[in-house]
Amino acid sequence: MEIQVQAYGKLNLSLDILQRQPTGYHDMRMVMETVALCDDVHIAISEGDSVQLSTNLHYLPVDDSNIAAEAAEVFFQELDLPRRQVTIHIHKRLPVSAGVAGGSANAAAVLRGLNHLLGTGLRTEELRHLGLMLGSDVPYCIGGGTALAEGRGEILTPLPSLPSCHIVICKPKFSISTPSLFGKIDCAKIRHRPDTSGMIKALEDGCLGQVAVRLYNVFEDVLTGKQRDVLVIKNALFDTGALGAAMTGTGPSVFGLFEDEQVARAAYEQLKQTYPETFLTKNRSELLTMGK
Ligand code: C5P
Repeated sequence: MEIQVQAYGKLNLSLDILQRQPTGYHDMRMVMETVALCDDVHIAISEGDSVQLSTNLHYLPVDDSNIAAEAAEVFFQELDLPRRQVTIHIHKRLPVSAGVAGGSANAAAVLRGLNHLLGTGLRTEELRHLGLMLGSDVPYCIGGGTALAEGRGEILTPLPSLPSCHIVICKPKFSISTPSLFGKIDCAKIRHRPDTSGMIKALEDGCLGQVAVRLYNVFEDVLTGKQRDVLVIKNALFDTGALGAAMTGTGPSVFGLFEDEQVARAAYEQLKQTYPETFLTKNRSELLTMGK
């Protein structure tokens, strides 16, 4: 038995942090969107009792420190299922450690794929519950689409779809540690916050331009040193005609929204000269179903 599942990347159209919970996690308020850029996750089930993982990128871990392998372990353990051999191959296209939830999307794809292959019939909410054991972005990645994410990221409210648009995603050459960036945020001192309500209203009105001018991520304000290259890319996206631009998640990728495909393509070609990990894609607002 085998299946191939697409693991789509996500963007934070907005990212706000409300407060630090006693658990150390933060209460978030984020408008999320899915992009067409994806990894392919091939899952096969056979006789045996281990999880085997491979990817097309030699530097990624393939033991259970990879969240996709961990997802398979969690699925069998939490459902108390008889063990099977699970062989996973991930063809990565999403940039790694980039703020587009590549790992979380892989984990979500494994949960969705195993649910389908093993006929366990878990509903979206139940898959999301398993997903939260793996990471804060995994519940969103189970269903995708345009959504408001609150709590750690697991309280999800569907929103009207972002109008169809062209998106340039650009990852600078450095990485940013997620826990250290959260550590730099003092919720009482956040100077600029995204206009989340205004963005939701713009989505209700179906107005891409009004969404685009409200793209904002509170982490942009605590970037230091070379991390400030993020702001250079953001300005470059504006200069090349983006309707709006922001960093996604804890970065370092920056994305710009474009109405016009030719303008987006020209921006992509220009940024790619300096930043090899630049991508041209579209949004993908519909909810995920198996086989898509
Ligand atoms: O849940 P996940 O493993 O993706 O979180 C990685 C790290 O990001 C956490 O250890 C925590 O430092 C930070 N985090 C947070 N609040 C959230 C999500 C993540 O502080 N809502």
